[in-house]
Amino acid sequence: MISAIKRILITGNTGYVGPAVLEQLRQSYPQATLIGLDNGYFAHCLTNADVLPEVAADIQYFADIRRLPAEVLQDVDAIVHLAAISNDPMGNAFEEVTFDVNFQASVDLATQAKAAHVKAFIFASSCSMYGLADDTPRKETSPLNPLTAYAKSKVRTEAELQKLAGQNFAVTCLRFATACGMSPRLRLDLVVNDFVACAVASRKITILSDGTPWRPLIHVRDMARAIDWAIARDEGHGDFLAVNAGSNSWNYQVRQLAEAVAEVIPGVNISVDPNAPPDSRSYRVDFGLYERLAPMHQPQVDLLTTIRELEAGLQSMGFSDVHFRGSMYMRLEVLKRLRAKGLIDGKLVWSRV
Ligand SMILES: NC(=O)c1ccc[n+]([C@@H]2O[C@H](COP(=O)([O-])OP(=O)(O)OC[C@H]3O[C@@H](n4cnc5c(N)ncnc54)[C@H](O)[C@@H]3O)[C@@H](O)[C@H]2O)c1
Repeated sequence: MISAIKRILITGNTGYVGPAVLEQLRQSYPQATLIGLDNGYFAHCLTNADVLPEVAADIQYFADIRRLPAEVLQDVDAIVHLAAISNDPMGNAFEEVTFDVNFQASVDLATQAKAAHVKAFIFASSCSMYGLADDTPRKETSPLNPLTAYAKSKVRTEAELQKLAGQNFAVTCLRFATACGMSPRLRLDLVVNDFVACAVASRKITILSDGTPWRPLIHVRDMARAIDWAIARDEGHGDFLAVNAGSNSWNYQVRQLAEAVAEVIPGVNISVDPNAPPDSRSYRVDFGLYERLAPMHQPQVDLLTTIRELEAGLQSMGFSDVHFRGSMYMRLEVLKRLRAKGLIDGKLVWSRV
């Protein structure tokens, strides 16, 4: 299968996860043509990059997946589909666009991909589709409880992808845990990254909940390893596979995450917001299926290493902004600023000014 993969398209590659995916696939497929496609909302949000991450791609398109240029899919063997409105705050602010991009354009892309004889389609799905659940770890067969536009878009897309999957079109939906870790386009709207940023900037972590919600995590490099596995996965695992991607040892309660940060960074004070509304996202996830199917691609990075890397990365950026929750490190904030400047319209289409 690996030798048959000569051309890989990665959508949404100029974001937080994309650079790690390019790096991983460049290693695993040194001879393949890697094609990136992104409309570049966050392309300018480079943080501690030594070089533009996209130099690892052979071809880079700046395009909107809602208007896919026809030539993009020519001779492509595998698609890694990351492009999305990628969290709940953005999904809540731009509900219709979230539906258009995350659901409609994803299904259109897969439909065109199948017609173009693409063999493997990897969809970046999310464990957030389990929503608020009891303490029993959620399996792939557990009931879904998507509570937000973002989570609902992932559920609907998976359902349509299942219908499209077939003998010559293998679909893998990787239900990723919440991402964390350093990236050349760091996001601080992710729980561990946020806590480390709080600790570095002010030696004080304010938890925006009572600290009890469960949150499974995965490092960005381990997301890339899972994608690497999915591209060449055993056909015996079925034409359609939805699998929780993460590790059983990375199911944490939010408070434990803050404590881990305080263990690495001395002098950090943790406070819980007593007035915080109950967090509607709390779920433990069973990653046993992924462990069985992908024994050679299990997550490798541990939590303390992740925290140390983030701390070092933030220090090297000279990071000290205590108000970062309203800054360019937050994906929603970037979109709001692009909107306010009239650079993108209400449908988040570039104005090309
Ligand atoms: N970060 C996480 O915790 C996490 C967890 C589970 C799943 N995922 C999924 O992984 C994927 C990547 O996440 P990320 O953290 O890198 O997000 P990100 O927001 O940093 O990157 C998403 C990229 O998609 C691009 N994009 C959005 N709409 C587009 C459009 N219409 N046309 C072309 N490109 C478009 C954006 O410009 C951006 O570069 C997403 O699908 C996300 O839902 C992320």
